[in-house]
Amino acid sequence: MIYFDNAATTRVHPAVARVVQAAMLENFGNPSSPHLLGLEAERLVRHARAALATALGCDEDEVYFTSGGTESDNLAIRGVLQTKNRKGKHIVASAIEHAAILDTLKHLEQAGLCEYTLVPPDEKGRVWPEAVGEALRNDTVLVTVMAVNNEIGTIQPVAEMVRLVKARDPEIYFHTDAVQALGKIPCRVSDWGVDLLTASGHKLSGPKGIGSLYCRKGVRLASQMTGGGQEEGLRSGTENVPGIAGFGRAVALAMEQMPERVKNWQHLQKCLLDLLLPIPDVDIHGEPLVNAPHIVNVGFPGVKGEVLVHALAGEGLFVSTGSACSSKREPHSHVLAAMQVDPLVAAGSIRISFGPDNTEDEVQMAVELIKRTVAELRRFQRY
Ligand SMILES: Cc1ncc(COP(=O)(O)O)c(C=O)c1O
Repeated sequence: MIYFDNAATTRVHPAVARVVQAAMLENFGNPSSPHLLGLEAERLVRHARAALATALGCDEDEVYFTSGGTESDNLAIRGVLQTKNRKGKHIVASAIEHAAILDTLKHLEQAGLCEYTLVPPDEKGRVWPEAVGEALRNDTVLVTVMAVNNEIGTIQPVAEMVRLVKARDPEIYFHTDAVQALGKIPCRVSDWGVDLLTASGHKLSGPKGIGSLYCRKGVRLASQMTGGGQEEGLRSGTENVPGIAGFGRAVALAMEQMPERVKNWQHLQKCLLDLLLPIPDVDIHGEPLVNAPHIVNVGFPGVKGEVLVHALAGEGLFVSTGSACSSKREPHSHVLAAMQVDPLVAAGSIRISFGPDNTEDEVQMAVELIKRTVAELRRFQRY
């Protein structure tokens, strides 16, 4: 098996799995309990929060645990809309955000709770700060632009955007979805100047169903989950201690190993491109060598992406068409469409994404398989 779908999810690191297991079998207390087991569970949560704070360059009490990237994105958007309702309800987002942002905006708009403007990227998938600036209105309360795109890997100039937005109106909050960025590029909130930042465990060898929201001190956010008042009242519910402990360990490992992992991914990306480019009629989307190191999106006109993905999986190579979260219900990638990629090319596109264990041998075997499969499908497939 060659697993090149790490932007969808990753295999849990063995060291992370051990921490999760210990939190389930040994330190299984409730962090709110005052006895020894409770205190031990609370210590695990504190330790994980410290790992996140170190990775993001923020204070520990600015990190809130949630059930994942989707919940953090929702909490950021819904939480800001509720506290800023006197100023307005307009939100600016890029057109290539994850469904956790785009669908949330759509739902809120349909309910009359927000208005939003989507800023299109250029043909390389870059969102220009000036274009974000042009979308701002007097009633804008939030700008949300992802740090790294999950389909093509484009790195957005978050710091520049924040500077421009804050210069126009310091009251506007800036949120970035860093789910695909953490562990791949430096994500220091003080360098970027963001008010809110989303992260998720399962994209960096951590468990699924755990994530975090960085919320800068002083930012007012309305909680979306009421109850026992955990996470300083922002996110009630007994903490997912095994998930949190595993997430913390995964983040610490990702930070420790980032220089080697990135070096390996950059090398794999280069090998992959060198081997893919000679294939007749191939389109590389975005600018892989400038983008985040773990994602390459490539189009084979004349081939259907889903058919190619299934054919490759049958041979033991796992890749995806665009985003795993929306590929079941979204026939064509909204990201490639926003980049004005020809629909025929977009329909034949696949995303290859690396994880910490991938090797050059795997890249070579994968490309051979892709070459063969694309040639066969081109011979038989017409649409
Ligand atoms: C950019 C981005 N944001 C948000 C999410 C959702 O995160 P989660 O799966 O933790 O809910 C994903 C997952 O694919 C993602 O890639």
